[in-house]
Amino acid sequence: MNILDLVKKENTVLPARYREMSTTEMKSRVIAIKEKLGEDLFIPGHHYQKDEVIEFADATGDSLQLAQAAGSTTASYIVFCGVHFMAETADILTNENQVVVLPDMRAGCSMADMADIHQTERAWEKLQKVFGDTMLPLTYVNSTAAIKAFCGERGGATVTSSNAHKMVEWAFTEKERILFLPDQHLGRNTAFDLGIPLEEMAVWNPITDELEFEGDPSTVKVILWKGHCSVHEKFTVENIKELRKTVPDMNIIVHPECTREVVELSDQAGSTKYIIETIEKAPAGSKWAIGTEMNLVNRIIQQHPDKEIVSLNPNMCPCLTMNRIDLPHLLWALESIEDGNVINRITVEEDVAKNAIYALEKMLANA
Ligand code: 13P
Ligand code: SF4
Repeated sequence: MNILDLVKKENTVLPARYREMSTTEMKSRVIAIKEKLGEDLFIPGHHYQKDEVIEFADATGDSLQLAQAAGSTTASYIVFCGVHFMAETADILTNENQVVVLPDMRAGCSMADMADIHQTERAWEKLQKVFGDTMLPLTYVNSTAAIKAFCGERGGATVTSSNAHKMVEWAFTEKERILFLPDQHLGRNTAFDLGIPLEEMAVWNPITDELEFEGDPSTVKVILWKGHCSVHEKFTVENIKELRKTVPDMNIIVHPECTREVVELSDQAGSTKYIIETIEKAPAGSKWAIGTEMNLVNRIIQQHPDKEIVSLNPNMCPCLTMNRIDLPHLLWALESIEDGNVINRITVEEDVAKNAIYALEKMLANA
């Protein structure tokens, strides 16, 4: 089911009473419900969430860390403060008695929406005509459960930005070439780091159903799905040139969801976890421009007053869909659990979950 279908379902719109409540009251209600439910409740919060949500998270982390946390919790209720694909992953990795809730069903991911299962099946069929049985499908976890299942069913796996290198290396021990969904930039940056030249990478365009590649297809090692993160694509070569001119001793660190050109000109690139750890280890007085989501960048700035830290793009906004999870939606989700009338439950169909788990298990084994 896609996000549009989900929001059309009942119980997906925040009741007006939560808009009328004061922040103080909402916070004290959240605290009271957390105390009441105790170990029965687990709130994972992705690093890109707002501070008002992170304040109540039982665990914070990137996609990989939160998938690991979801896979090991014994709580009956998991209120996932992140986006839809993360909550689906949590549902796949928990047992049938554990309930996963996404506080706002509109918290999707525009990148995950750039590949649907029908496009993927069509692409695979066409690509097989060119490449035969030489491809392994890999998908960034930022994808629907159906695409994870598609990969699992064909011996492929999910990857996150934290373990993409390991997973791509592994994939080449299995097959001659990979199809990497849905983020062309993470796929390209990772393959390039592993020594695969850009000339050996083709792009699959799911809108035109065509392979974008000039030359002999037998030289293609990596087929990149033409998807991207609308947040990370906002960091540009111009941002870097401007900064190099105005503050030449600034270190530039970006997420690998940024374009190849941006990664190339930056000093370092790495996952959310890598960025956080790099800044933590950096000496006092050092200067950093960060190319990733703004809720996280603002939090890093607050946590490191001894360092000079800015966003690589001075006009950057937070990820709009991550931002949909806010204090009122969190409270709404928690009160629905308390009342025994759970809203916004995320459930992945059993046959999809069964195949998706193969793909996720490979990723978790290579964490
Ligand atoms: P990571 O959590 O793997 O760094 O991914 C970033 C992201 O865009 C999550 O939506
Ligand atoms: Fe999706 Fe990008 Fe937002 Fe992550 S930051 S949830 S990849 S749109």
